[in-house]
Amino acid sequence: MPSGAVRVAVTRRISPAMQRCELTHLRRSPIDIDLAREQHRAYEQVLRKLGCRIESLPEAPELADSVFVEDTAIVLDELAIITRPGASSRRAETSAVAGALGRYRKLARIEAPGMLDGGDVLRVGRTLYVGTSSRSNRAAIEQLATLLMPVGYRVQPVEVRGCLHLKSAVTQVATDRLLINPRYADRDAFAGMQFIEVDETEPSGANAVWIGSDVIYSASHPRTADALRRLGIRVHTVEMSETEKAEGGVTCCSLLFCEGR
Ligand code: GLY
Repeated sequence: MPSGAVRVAVTRRISPAMQRCELTHLRRSPIDIDLAREQHRAYEQVLRKLGCRIESLPEAPELADSVFVEDTAIVLDELAIITRPGASSRRAETSAVAGALGRYRKLARIEAPGMLDGGDVLRVGRTLYVGTSSRSNRAAIEQLATLLMPVGYRVQPVEVRGCLHLKSAVTQVATDRLLINPRYADRDAFAGMQFIEVDETEPSGANAVWIGSDVIYSASHPRTADALRRLGIRVHTVEMSETEKAEGGVTCCSLLFCEGR
């Protein structure tokens, strides 16, 4: 990030309907909405501490999963791509996000029959790895490649198995290092990178928000957090118990980008 640039974090308040969220790999369990809101405020506070300006979108009373703004857009320096989420119950989430991002970036859109969740898109430098999951399909990956090749990005599909999104399987935690659960995605897909594996007792621990030398990370995975610290990474843990019941992780709850690029 260039010095002096302001980092923006778009977030969205927890919906009162969150209990009715989509679930793919988890059984439904009661969500404490008040606690979820408290945890979400604490998450935003860590983003502020790491230099982000929070742009919080209003609560969407009917959109159960709307806190998971990551799935609605891919924000790059050159443009933002509004997705077409794989779950039809989530498609109405995109309009408020497009309204916010349109003030910062030129917008493009994934169109039917494409389906894409931002949680399936991991950007590493000029490569966008895109998970082929139950939420993201080849048609969307082709559209993404057509939009992004002219501005110098490579789009590479990656097979995902046993988890919701690519970023449930792997995220970046340093310039040259990915945090991965190799049961969910193969290391071979990510040429030239080094890896740290999640602790085997913490299969959902591959999701981290990387900001400079810091990561925001769920308190639910303490062994993996210790392994990250041993690599010299500054780990800021946040309680995520309630959003985790809705099958969401730390990356899901924000869209991060530099203002004015
Ligand atoms: N509950 C998060 C999702 O399934 O999209």
